[in-house]
Amino acid sequence: MDMPIFARAADLRAYLAGPRRSAKRIALVPTMGNLHAGHHSLLAIAREHADVVVATVFVNPTQFGPNEDFARYPRTPDADAEGLAANGCDALFMPGVEEMYPYGIAKTVRVSVPEIDSILEGEIRPGHFDGVATVVAKLFNLVQPDVAVFGQKDYQQLLVIRRMARDLAYPIEIVGAPTLREANGLAMSSRNQYLSNEQRDQAGLIHATLLRMQAATQLGTETLAAIEAEAGEVLRTAGFLPDYAVIRRAADLSVPGPSERSGLVALIAARLGPARLIDNLLLDP
Ligand code: PAJ
Repeated sequence: MDMPIFARAADLRAYLAGPRRSAKRIALVPTMGNLHAGHHSLLAIAREHADVVVATVFVNPTQFGPNEDFARYPRTPDADAEGLAANGCDALFMPGVEEMYPYGIAKTVRVSVPEIDSILEGEIRPGHFDGVATVVAKLFNLVQPDVAVFGQKDYQQLLVIRRMARDLAYPIEIVGAPTLREANGLAMSSRNQYLSNEQRDQAGLIHATLLRMQAATQLGTETLAAIEAEAGEVLRTAGFLPDYAVIRRAADLSVPGPSERSGLVALIAARLGPARLIDNLLLDP
């Protein structure tokens, strides 16, 4: 494997100085590791936009709540590096916590994106999007990419990052990438490995429910509120504990008017056994 791996920001910067001098376009793909085909698909999209593709693997402590899975989040650095090299990544940045948070976590400068950070995922995971915006801002400054690729799987995260990039005037194109799924529709996720085989099969219901929400919205005979209530009921009946199953405006996740039927997205977050799963679907045909 001849893909360079950097733990220090200074070394990554020195590596990128060459391509930057020759006006090569640089793409950034940030991840928390434990990489699957969904992550790898982001590399191919990054490649379409840039000459040099840089991935980062960093399990970011500031985006986990005190009772969340930071400690047990799966860490597979060797397999991640191999998978990245095999899927067209040019360089990997894999820093430690001290490198990303030189003053420590409690004293870090924080970036927050108001309003959108406190609904849906942000309401259930207070501070989560502060942690995401903070670490992504740091990565943007370290790598100074021309383009950065994020999955639509984490739809609210993508919107938070778009707003941050625009409001802080980062000269970085933010590209959203489609969600890769298992055969049963389950969105690929590092957290899927908390599930038993049986639960994985069951978890296909989340995507199936999103598809039902889409069909019902397009049919137009039920109110959006009824469609949401029905989706929650389907999930609960099957043994899920949904945090939300809602239809929102795709542009900013605000609540649509009762007769709005375009520009919408359906979003679900639900616990199944030991895992908390999120997924979404744009509802426009
Ligand atoms: P992580 O969950 O590792 O995801 C890294 C990137 O992969 C994100 O942009 C995510 O949306 C995308 N992704 C995850 N599952 C996907 C799938 N099934 N198909 C396509 N893309 C998928 O998201 C994070 O890490 C972190 O919050 C991060 C942005 C790295 C900041 O710490």
